[in-house]
Order: sequence, then C-alpha cells, then structure tokens
Amino acid sequence: PVGAPDKSLAKKVGKVGVIGAGLMASQFALLFLRRLEVPVVITDLDQERVDKGLAYIHDELQKLADKGRLNPDQHNKLKGLISGTTDRSQYADCDWVIEAVFEELSVKQDVFAEFEKIVSPEAVFATNTSSLSVDAIGAKLEHPERLVGFHFFNPVAVMPLIEVVKAPQTDDTTVATAMAVAKNLKKNAIITTDSTGFVVNRVLAKVLGESMRAVDDGTPFSVVDEALAPLGLPMPPSVLLDLVGLKVGAHVLDTHHAAWPDRFYRSENLHRVAAAGQLIEKDAKGKSKGV
Ligand code: CAA
Repeated sequence: PVGAPDKSLAKKVGKVGVIGAGLMASQFALLFLRRLEVPVVITDLDQERVDKGLAYIHDELQKLADKGRLNPDQHNKLKGLISGTTDRSQYADCDWVIEAVFEELSVKQDVFAEFEKIVSPEAVFATNTSSLSVDAIGAKLEHPERLVGFHFFNPVAVMPLIEVVKAPQTDDTTVATAMAVAKNLKKNAIITTDSTGFVVNRVLAKVLGESMRAVDDGTPFSVVDEALAPLGLPMPPSVLLDLVGLKVGAHVLDTHHAAWPDRFYRSENLHRVAAAGQLIEKDAKGKSKGV
C-alpha cells in the first residue's frame, strides 16, 4: 500500500497554473480560485478557448454572488485573481501547474515537456488524467519526480474525492504537496498507485462498459437505465456517460480494455455515437430513449 508522506514536506502554493480551459479545467480552475484565493491563470490552444473558460468562471462567480455565497468584496477579489492567456511566460512563477488537456498520451507528454522549460524548477506538476499512466505522461520530463496524478470528478464543485496518483518516480514532497492542496480544496484525497483506472474508473468502466455491452447486444439504453435503477446509483448510466462526455467515456473504456481485454468491454458503437457528436436521446424529463 502507498502511505501518506510527512505533511511537513508540502510546498506552499502561491500561484496556480491551469493548462486547458475545457470542461474539467475550467471547473477546477474555479475551485482553486475559490478555495486557495491565490492568482490562477488558465491557458489553451487559442484565445477563443481561453475566453470560453474565462466566461464560464466569471458566470459561476456571478451565480455565487447572486446566491449570496460571495459578498461583493470577495467577488471582486476573485475576479482580480483569475486570468487567461496564450502567453506561456505567465506560468514562470506558478508553484502548482495542473493540466486537463486532450486525453492522449503524446499530447500530455509534450505539454509537460514544453511547460518544464518555462516553469520554475521548484513547481509541482499535476495531471488530471482519468486513466492514462502518470509514469508514461512524465516520460519526457527532465524531473519526473515532481509529477503527480490529481484526478478530479465531474461535477468538480460537488464530487468530494480526489485521487492522488503516485507514479513510481513521484517523490514524497510532490505527494505531500498534492495532499495539502486537496485538503485546502476541502476534498477528500486518497493516494493510489499508478495503475489503469486508479480506483474509481475501474469500477465506473465496469458499470458503463457492461451497460454499453447490453446496449450493443440490442437492449435500449432506457431499459438498461431502468433495470439498474434499484442499485441506487446517483445517476442512470446513460446520464453519467453524458456527464463524463461520450468521447472521454469511450476512451476510458478503451484504456481499460487495452489493459485487461478479458475483463473490460470496449464499444465501437460508443465511438460512432461520440464521433457523430450525438448525445444519447432523452425525453423531456431527461430520461434516455436509447442510443
Ligand atoms: N456543477 C456544480 N454544482 C452542481 C452541479 C454541477 N454540474 N450539479 C449539481 N450541483 C450541485 C447543486 O447546485 C446542489 O448544490 P446545493 O446543495 O449547494 O444547492 C448539489 O450539487 C446537489 O444537486 P441536486 O440536488 O440538484 O442534484 P443531485 O442530488 O441529483 O446530485 C450529483 C447531483 C451530485 C451530480 C449526483 O447526481 C451524482 O453524484 N452523480 C454522479 C456523478 C459522478 O459519478 N461523477 C463522476 C463521473 S467520472 C469523472 O468525472 C471522472 C472520469 O475520469 C471520467
């Protein structure tokens, strides 16, 4: 088992750099902003994507202010702490740099190799990968000991868990920093080994994979959802798949199938549906009508 390192090793985080401004990245950028109250910078491939991420964060801050969860001073303070840029040099003084870019090994490897040239040698790197090997993601880093997995769940604001993934080369200072950051985000963190799916996605990939297998065998998704309702899942499988994102879901199933072909199902059909950008059809109450 992986033990928690000495808490005193944790580094202080005075500025956060988020690489990516998509669904997960913008949600956790908002959480870093709210909980750590330090400068948070986001970036993406182009200004349009950055602006979309910033707009989401500003909208969510406004909603919190409207609900009275942020007073006007806090709201103004947080607005002043968030920024978005395509200028990578603004990451030079970040202490914690976390990515949620496209879930493709080579993309993540290249992103870290690029940012290692810019970011301070003291900074900790974190990846929000959902099922790729953290060890492999750090393969192009000069100092892979400062890379850790830091896996959030969607919706970030409400899901209580973070999987802190310790790759073989991740050092204790990096893990201690990740644990301290998770605590400051008010999340429950567990330390996992660097194995496919860590803990949670192994179970989710089973539920979603077997649901898809039943669909591919001819059962409508609405019937699968109905059949599983008595298990008390917080969401029917089709709704969860939509939440995760069909492309990400298909990718997670592929990764598990590649690691354990006899234990996990990969669905060609899910790839087709994801490529068509088609969501699982729902009725007016949000109940799925089947793929
Ligand atoms: N963003 C922010 N807040 C949200 C939200 C969202 N998308 N959805 C719900 N909430 C908030 C609500 O505002 C509400 O907050 P308050 O109590 O403060 O008002 C609270 O969550 C509860 O909301 P509801 O009562 O409307 O909803 P619910 O009781 O049906 O719960 C849920 C919603 C928490 C999302 C629940 O359905 C759930 O737990 N679903 C399962 C989600 C899950 O399994 N996620 C993991 C996906 S896997 C992944 O992300 C990682 C990967 O690697 C693929």
